[in-house]
Amino acid sequence: MIVTGAAQGIGKATAQRLAEEGMIVAVADRNFAGAEQVAQAIGAANGRALALSLDVANRESWAEGVARVVDAFGGIDGLVNNAGMTRDSSLLKMTDADWEAVIDVNLRGPWLGCQIVIPHMTTKGGAIVNLSSESRWGAFGQSNYSSAKAGLVGLTRTVAFEHARHRVRVNAVAPGTVNTAMVEAVPDDIRKGWLRNIPMRREADPAEIASVIAFLLSEDASYVTGQIIGVNGGSII
Ligand code: NAI
Repeated sequence: MIVTGAAQGIGKATAQRLAEEGMIVAVADRNFAGAEQVAQAIGAANGRALALSLDVANRESWAEGVARVVDAFGGIDGLVNNAGMTRDSSLLKMTDADWEAVIDVNLRGPWLGCQIVIPHMTTKGGAIVNLSSESRWGAFGQSNYSSAKAGLVGLTRTVAFEHARHRVRVNAVAPGTVNTAMVEAVPDDIRKGWLRNIPMRREADPAEIASVIAFLLSEDASYVTGQIIGVNGGSII
């Protein structure tokens, strides 16, 4: 299993969950020190985890990282395209750099990941989970991020269609608000306002997203592909 953006937040919780389930995990992040800490905590010493320095927006970085995983573990059966970032501002203030950085990491990154990892899955099959978001429906100040997360829906379904016959399943989870550094950056009053639209009236813990990702990667989801699973405390926007 490769989990991108696994140095913290949802990616870290996912790496931990998959390791608890006995899987060997490549903990990939552009924050290598953070990835190393997570890999150590979940079993690098016993060869059950590997820290990877990976920039998902960079094709060469993917190629090197995937080659290392194949070398170390003999193949790849799962990929979680989790790495993500925001650079919010209103449409009229958004710069080209804000647009490009967010599209590169949140959309081009998963596209590269699918393209480079799937050839290693086609003999035995495998599963991919992409991290979309409720923001895929549109979100104030997030024309870049919303577009990327909506784009991931098209990517998920297309790759699922193209590779179903190779027994590669591709799904997305679309979290609502999850208590991670990404959300800690949001002002308190806005965060409280969001709670009013969540029937469960609370944010998710990263582990509550990780458990759904783990299900989608598992054999329990053997007939599930091309789906976008909301994990959002009941929100219906
Ligand atoms: P986070 O900000 O806590 O962690 C993101 C991780 O991705 C960091 O470790 C960071 O170093 C890594 N990363 C960023 N750019 C990278 C790159 N180019 N290459 C490799 N690694 C990179 O984020 P969080 O909250 O854990 O989010 C994880 C995913 O879930 C993201 O795709 C995010 O868009 C999505 N999501 C998060 C929600 C939330 O409320 N926190 C809601 C919906 C979706």
